[in-house]
Amino acid sequence: MLSKKIEEVLNKQIRIEAESSQVYLAMACWAEVQGFEGVAQFMFAHSDEERMHMLKLVKFVNERGGHAQISELAAPPTEFGSFKNMFETLFNHEVMVSQSINDLVHITLEQRDYATHNFLQWYVAEQIEEEALARNILDKINLIGDDKGGLYLFDNDVKQLVAAGTNAPQ
Ligand SMILES: [Fe+2]
Ligand SMILES: [Fe+2]
Repeated sequence: MLSKKIEEVLNKQIRIEAESSQVYLAMACWAEVQGFEGVAQFMFAHSDEERMHMLKLVKFVNERGGHAQISELAAPPTEFGSFKNMFETLFNHEVMVSQSINDLVHITLEQRDYATHNFLQWYVAEQIEEEALARNILDKINLIGDDKGGLYLFDNDVKQLVAAGTNAPQ
């Protein structure tokens, strides 16, 4: 059984995962309308992944005697300026999510909720991967800069990444 406090903080995380899904969906659209198919595919897949993170939390809250709250979401931006800027936004967003998961883990220890603590370990591992992936892409884009030909190759690279399942929903 979840305490009120744990239910409340898990519901906050449900909202963060849902908003992450929206942000990446907006990034997918921005890339797609400019013809960057690889980056668009990557972002669509990432958006699905965040929705799956949200659903996993929803099921857990309901199974543990809480009530998952589906709330209104903040609208993400529609423009991202440049790919460098967009992937920086993505990386910073993931760092923010990791911080939020860390805070949650800390609260479960304070509350001695070891079941939720155990459940959250999956998210801790997932955030390590997501930060590494975002940093990896950011390194590549920093090498390319604004070079058009480089961006074309980068888009193809990202497409390979999606095809290889590196970013496939788990
Ligand atoms: Fe997530
Ligand atoms: Fe994420």
